Amino acid sequence: MIVLGIETSCDETGLALYDTSPWEAGKPAAQGILGQALHSQIQMHQEFGGVVPELASRDHIRRIIPLLNQALKDSNCAAEAIDAIAYTEGPGLAGALLVGTAFANALGVALKRPLIGIHHLEGHLLSPLLSNTSKDEAPAFPFVALLVSGGHTQLMKVSGVGDYALLGETLDDAAGEAFDKTAKLLGLDYPGGAALSKLAVLGRAGRFDLPRPMLHSGDLDFSFAGLKTAVLTQVKKQMATAPTLDDAFRADLARSFVDAVVQVLVRKASQAIELHECRDLVLAGGVGANQQLRNALNLQAQQHSFRVHYPPLDLCTDNGVMIAFAGALRLLKEKHGGQVLNRPLSDGSFDVKPRWNLSATDSIEN
Ligand code: KG4
Ligand code: ZN
Repeated sequence: MIVLGIETSCDETGLALYDTSPWEAGKPAAQGILGQALHSQIQMHQEFGGVVPELASRDHIRRIIPLLNQALKDSNCAAEAIDAIAYTEGPGLAGALLVGTAFANALGVALKRPLIGIHHLEGHLLSPLLSNTSKDEAPAFPFVALLVSGGHTQLMKVSGVGDYALLGETLDDAAGEAFDKTAKLLGLDYPGGAALSKLAVLGRAGRFDLPRPMLHSGDLDFSFAGLKTAVLTQVKKQMATAPTLDDAFRADLARSFVDAVVQVLVRKASQAIELHECRDLVLAGGVGANQQLRNALNLQAQQHSFRVHYPPLDLCTDNGVMIAFAGALRLLKEKHGGQVLNRPLSDGSFDVKPRWNLSATDSIEN
């Protein structure tokens, strides 16, 4: 079965084709990736310091057909080879989601193929299965997923495809949002997560005593707004004495910020593993590309005898492959008697879910 995946929830247009045969034959999931095409709008939004929803939708419209053609070419497939179409139905920007959803539905009607609406975070949290490892080395259900993206910071227990329980989440800013806001304060372009991480490598540890929000809260929730405020306080203090932020100050503050975020994320993820008696932790979402976080999780995993899994670096941020893969796993589940999430309404109408709770995914009515 070949599944087309379409991702347009925010500022990346991603299309990809995934073949379920290697996975069904017990081979590594990565072998099913036939090809993909991806366009990032980051540059377009940079001058506005954040994503402009209207511009995002228009750009998805402009790109989506050429990207489908490119993904088909990359996969060496004709459109008729597609057996099912998976698309991000939510959460995300309503206008952006509508572009991918409308396109998927039109294609489904034209090709007479079934449609599967995918939760964006489900794409992220299943993506670590796509690393090119044998099934023995791959994460096994139930596992704990630490989802850290620009919009979300959540710990989930994943007991199977479609079987997700929320263990804890941020009460205010997402980790990626905190990265981006701190990066902005230090004069880095949007989205500054990756650049801030690079800057932190040059910094000295421990110069700034930043808070570790909710480290000892006793639950698995997070909070990052206070940390961002603490960074702002340090920046204001420095600006009061000097007209610009010098390189050492910026790098040292970046280092203290990254160390604080990483410590909280690692501690809570490790607690979740212990509490829920899981053996595997998967890291997913854009902040999952962060090297300091990966290093710290590796160390923690070694010391506490659990395994940690990452998506391939290029699949950490938004892409069409993870949506095609999530759709493929949903279809396989249906084939084996499970229920597939969404079917198009019989009258041919469709909708999107800009706000959508993943742990309630299966109970949501269409
Ligand atoms: O998952 P994603 O691509 O989009 C959302 O669904 O939000 O995540 C984007 C977020 C941004 O906040 C970006 O700054 C952050 O991931 N990010 C990073 C790194 N690479 C991307 N944050 C820290 N370190 C990185 N290396
Ligand atoms: Zn994402």
